[in-house]
Amino acid sequence: MEKNVDTMEKVVSLCKRRGFVFQGSDIYGGLKGTWDFGPLGVTLNNNIKREWWKMFVEGREDIYGIDAAILMNAKVWETSGHVAGFFDPLVEDVETGERFRADHLLKDLGINADGLSLTEIDNLIIEHKVLSPKGNKVSAARQFNMMFESRIGATAGDEGKVYLRPETAQGMFVNFKNVLDSMSPKMPFGLAQIGKAFRNEIAPREFVFRVREFEQMEIEYFVKEEQWREEFEKLRLAIQKWHDHIGLAPENIREYEVPDNDLAHYSKRTIDFEYNYPGKGFDELAGFAYRTNHDLKAHMNASGVSMEYIEPDGTRYVPHVLEPSFGVGRAFMAILCEAYTEDEMGGEVRTYLKLPKHLAPYKVAVSPLLKNKPALVEKARSVFSVLKETFGTVAWDDNGNVGKRYRRQDEIGTPHCVTIDFDTLGEEKPELKDTVTVRDRDTGQQTRVAIAELVSYLK
Ligand code: GAP
Repeated sequence: MEKNVDTMEKVVSLCKRRGFVFQGSDIYGGLKGTWDFGPLGVTLNNNIKREWWKMFVEGREDIYGIDAAILMNAKVWETSGHVAGFFDPLVEDVETGERFRADHLLKDLGINADGLSLTEIDNLIIEHKVLSPKGNKVSAARQFNMMFESRIGATAGDEGKVYLRPETAQGMFVNFKNVLDSMSPKMPFGLAQIGKAFRNEIAPREFVFRVREFEQMEIEYFVKEEQWREEFEKLRLAIQKWHDHIGLAPENIREYEVPDNDLAHYSKRTIDFEYNYPGKGFDELAGFAYRTNHDLKAHMNASGVSMEYIEPDGTRYVPHVLEPSFGVGRAFMAILCEAYTEDEMGGEVRTYLKLPKHLAPYKVAVSPLLKNKPALVEKARSVFSVLKETFGTVAWDDNGNVGKRYRRQDEIGTPHCVTIDFDTLGEEKPELKDTVTVRDRDTGQQTRVAIAELVSYLK
């Protein structure tokens, strides 16, 4: 099926309807740029994070996981350059006062303003007579810092100022020395972290794509300066493997080499891994940057703590760093768009999520053929308990008829449905006693399987 802007709308609507994602603070009219993950959404998110951790931390010897505090000393962000340089260009609708990202207004007209100065952006706005989405003139562009500020304790003034972290990365840089001292890693090695990040985005938009509170899965991979190209290529392959593992088709992934004039203040080379979001086109899914030794050096100078690595032969140096950085929400959105499928089954259009089994929120659903037959329900309950013990996330579904249950489970991507029927009880066909029907999500095919073999069959 061809995917387009309608597909994206259908995915968003499915997410709400089936308990994947709800608007944040919904009953109070919502809070822009925040989304709450419902029962199925949190399970999918947890599966994404667990698979990532398995692949990049547990599956390797050279990457150590950490979990740093969200609240960090303000000096971290002054030193990293975020306080002075983490800006987006903002314009205001002169009539309504609404605020927009100048580069996004230009992008909507097909003009790339990445890396341009405010004066260059203003010139483009005048040249192309850029208006706000309401059709009004916009103000001159100005820089807007995306850091959320807060205060700790009962301090006044700037003394207790803290920032909600805009990336998890700095938590790893400030723990570099702690890990060196406690784990004695050999170069090259990495630190990995999954956690929340916060950015006061001027214009959050496109569902969970651009939000103010989101989760990142990041790696800081420390190398000798002369190793960076070789290790960059290895990590690039690991990132490709990850995208394959979460079921994203290679033709929907593009690697965009960020031009020099648009590199972040700390980077000498960055590749954006872009996904072809339906109706939106290719846009950032994950980033991969060579950050030199900018961060470790800056923290060493500001804190006075050495960030040097000492080789067995006594050579000392401040390592350079490669940074694969993934947004959980963007992976979530790409996975759902990729999995969303419409086909025809039994003469009817059906919608299903062709999710990889390791990501599906429920691994299997169990149903008694009829919910008012105690013998069927009792048998189905015992099968449900066994499967739940093995697979954890198992759905119990006894609403409506079997066909409706299958459609419901298809729509949330449950790979298998198990139905307990009269044959399971062996009432008419004793040879089928203690067997169940297992239905496959993608093909709709039904197979008779003995209960005793069900776990290994589903595995
Ligand atoms: N430490 C490097 C860093 O934070 P980034 O490109 O700004 O780099 C990395 O962010 C990833 O985090 C992005 O590729 C995206 O997946 C995710 N991300 C960034 N800003 C986001 C936002 N406002 N909403 C959702 N995800 C976001």
